[in-house]
Amino acid sequence: MQTAAHQHFAQTLLGWYGRHKRSLPWRDTTNPYFIWLSEVILQQTRVAQGLPYYERFVAAYPTVQDLAAAPQDEVLRLWQGLGYYSRARNMHHTAQLVVEKYGGQFPDKYEELLKLKGVGSYTAAAIAAFAFKEQVAVLDGNVFRVLARVFGISDDIAAPSSRKIFQKLADELVPAGEPDTYNQAIMEFGAIQCTPLMPDCLFCPLQQSCFAFNHGMVQELPVKSKAKAARPRFFHYIVFELDGAFYLRKRLEGDIWQGLYDFYLYESDIKDLPEEQLLLELQEAGIPVQKALLQPPAKDYKHILSHQKINARFYRIKLKTPLKDEVLQETRLAPYNVKKIEALPKPVLISSYLKDAKILVYL
Ligand code: ADE
Repeated sequence: MQTAAHQHFAQTLLGWYGRHKRSLPWRDTTNPYFIWLSEVILQQTRVAQGLPYYERFVAAYPTVQDLAAAPQDEVLRLWQGLGYYSRARNMHHTAQLVVEKYGGQFPDKYEELLKLKGVGSYTAAAIAAFAFKEQVAVLDGNVFRVLARVFGISDDIAAPSSRKIFQKLADELVPAGEPDTYNQAIMEFGAIQCTPLMPDCLFCPLQQSCFAFNHGMVQELPVKSKAKAARPRFFHYIVFELDGAFYLRKRLEGDIWQGLYDFYLYESDIKDLPEEQLLLELQEAGIPVQKALLQPPAKDYKHILSHQKINARFYRIKLKTPLKDEVLQETRLAPYNVKKIEALPKPVLISSYLKDAKILVYL
C-alpha cells in the first residue's frame, strides 16, 4: 500500500532524478539484452569502471545471438579485470539458452527471468522493471542504504533474513506506472547523493523526512556485519620459457579463476618458500631444474578476492629443451607465443606480471 509518506518519498526521488541523473547508455534503451549486460557488469563495479566494459561488449556482441556464438575464451578475455569470472561464464551460458530455448527473446516476467542461470533477484528485477515496466523493486547496495537511512531500518543488510523486510518496503514504494524511472532514481540517489561515507545531507531533498538525519545516525545506518577475514593463500608460479614461448594452462573447475589461463602453480601454506623446496617439488613432478636456471621472484603480487587473499611470486625458468609429454599431460601446460598469450583470458595478477617482466608490452 502506498501511504502519503511513501508517495512523498517516491515523488521526491523522481524529482531529484530529473535534475541529477547521469546520461548512461543503458538508460536510453528498453532492449532487455543491453539492460541485462549492463546490470551483470555493474554488479561488480562502479559506473565509471563498468562503462568501457559495457561499450566493448555491445560493440563485440551487438545481439544476444552474437554473444551466444562467441568462444568462451574471447568472452572471458573481454571480461578480464572485472573479477567474479563465474558471472561471465553464466552470462555466456544464459545467452546460449536464450537463443536456443527462447528463440532469442528474453522472458518478459520477473519470475521467468529468475530461472535463467546467473540471474538472481536483483538482475531479474532490473530487467523486468527497465525493459518491461513490471512493478518490482530493484534491491542493490544503494537501495539498502537509502531505505535503511530514510526509514530507520537497523536490520543487518548482510543477513539474508533482512532481505524480506527491505524487499517488502521497496516493493511498496514503487509508484504505479513508473517502475523503470523510479528504480533508476533510487539507485542513482544512492550512488550520488546518499553515498556510504560522505552523503550530501546538507543539500538532500529528503533531509526533513530522513530518520537517520533526524536521529544523528547517518554514519550508523545501514547496519552491516563484517565479512569473515579472507583466507590467505600463497602461490608460487613457475614461468617456463622456451624460445620466446611460455607454458600456460587453462584453470579447471573447483577453484578460483575457472577458465582463465595461468602458469605452472605450486601452492604452499607459507609465503617464504625456500628455493630448495620448490626445486624438490618440481623434481617430484618430473621437471628437474638446476638451481642456477631459476630466476628468483622480483616482488610479491597481491590480489584480494571476496574470501581470499592471494600472494603470488613468479619464478622464471629459461628451458633448454621442451617439457616432456608426460609433464604436459599431467599439468595440462602448453606453449604459447606472446601474441597468443595477449589474446588469452588471464587473471589480472598474471597480466601484471607479464607486463612487469616485459613479456607483454601492450596490455
Ligand atoms: N548500478 C547498477 N545498475 C545501475 C544502473 N542501471 N544505472 C546506474 N548504476 C547502476
